[in-house]
Amino acid sequence: MADECLPIRKDFALSPKKAEQFLRSRRSIRVFKSEPVERSQIERLIQIACHAPSAKNAQPWSWVIIEDPLKLTELDVMLVDWMRSMIQVNPEVAESLKLPRTVRLWEKGRIKLLRNAPHLIIAHVDQTWPFGVEDTALALSYVELYAPVLGLGATWSGYFYTAYNMYPPLAQAVPVPKGRKVVGAMMVGRPKFKYYRLPKRNQPKVEWR
Ligand SMILES: Cc1cc2nc3c(=O)[nH]c(=O)nc-3n(C[C@H](O)[C@H](O)[C@H](O)COP(=O)(O)O)c2cc1C
Repeated sequence: MADECLPIRKDFALSPKKAEQFLRSRRSIRVFKSEPVERSQIERLIQIACHAPSAKNAQPWSWVIIEDPLKLTELDVMLVDWMRSMIQVNPEVAESLKLPRTVRLWEKGRIKLLRNAPHLIIAHVDQTWPFGVEDTALALSYVELYAPVLGLGATWSGYFYTAYNMYPPLAQAVPVPKGRKVVGAMMVGRPKFKYYRLPKRNQPKVEWR
């Protein structure tokens, strides 16, 4: 059994400064080059994602990768349709999520909700598994952290998986097996631009007791 597990290499250890820069330089990528990423690279991301911790080591995630540009465009249109329906049905929530403004920008052609990314990684889990959201968030964080190492970039699509569970046309467009639910999605591609500085963040709010 131990023979099947690779040893941890001391020469690969990160210094605290390198680890800090690695973690602090993670950014959302929202402008992508149009060319697709090789499937082998996406598979590497998924492989790494599957090393994330999960409750009871359940590794509950399965993945759907959308790479068909027409499908991605169709999903983008569906997302804006979902936003329009939210504005009608639940204007207060829609306003708190700034959906009216987002729809206006989309209609002017200023933004795409899936950011013209050439790939959308969707994660689904058994709907009875109580830790599916947490497990998947961790796995997708691994994707986001590992992507730049492969020359790629990623951004969460909170819109996608939120809409997926509220707007049946989306679930019909990307069906997952019965008894499963979509709990996360991430847009992936090659970044068009580079970040050159580490972002500032709020100071931690900590209480010692
Ligand atoms: C759960 C979650 C959902 C998100 N959904 C979206 C989204 O739908 N579209 C988007 O462009 N960014 C989305 N983001 C990215 C955040 O806006 C981003 O992480 C935040 O603004 C900080 O910027 P940074 O990631 O570049 O440091 C999401 C992030 C998280 C954690």
